[in-house]
Amino acid sequence: MIKIVYWSGTGNTENMANHIAEGIKASGKEVHTTLVGNIEVNEVMDAEVIVLGCPAMGAEQLEEDEMQPFVDALLPQIEGKKVALFGSYGWGTGEWMEIWHEEIKAARANVVCEPLIVNEFTTGQDEEICKQYGERLAKC
Ligand SMILES: Cc1cc2nc3c(=O)[nH]c(=O)nc-3n(C[C@H](O)[C@H](O)[C@H](O)COP(=O)(O)O)c2cc1C
Repeated sequence: MIKIVYWSGTGNTENMANHIAEGIKASGKEVHTTLVGNIEVNEVMDAEVIVLGCPAMGAEQLEEDEMQPFVDALLPQIEGKKVALFGSYGWGTGEWMEIWHEEIKAARANVVCEPLIVNEFTTGQDEEICKQYGERLAKC
């Protein structure tokens, strides 16, 4: 079972999560998709791949009330686990994701695919990109 845990304020990262899940399912793998506010860290530890999604918030930061605490709790337990990251951004260059990616790698997680970032969310184009990312994750 692949588990997707995400936060989304205006729905862009949620769209990404749903289309990534679609790609995973289309490849014949089971997937569970949850808002970060509805799940505890210990519920994702058995996942085949832990897929985390969060948009750029603050000043190139993770969302601070739900996603950052979840990630903080996950980091000490993530060594060797298969992980993938995704999220939507606005006016920046993706710096928040570079920082997040480094943090996850420093905790010795096994990052199975390069993080996926999209600018806001474009119907059609980004749907397909996310679906393909899900298909890749299903093969990891
Ligand atoms: C409070 C706030 C802070 C943001 N900070 C950044 C930022 O630092 N860099 C950036 O590229 N976009 C930033 N954005 C834009 C969002 O990342 C972008 O709109 C994204 O698509 C939102 O995803 P969501 O719909 O999943 O919430 C910010 C948006 C908000 C509301």
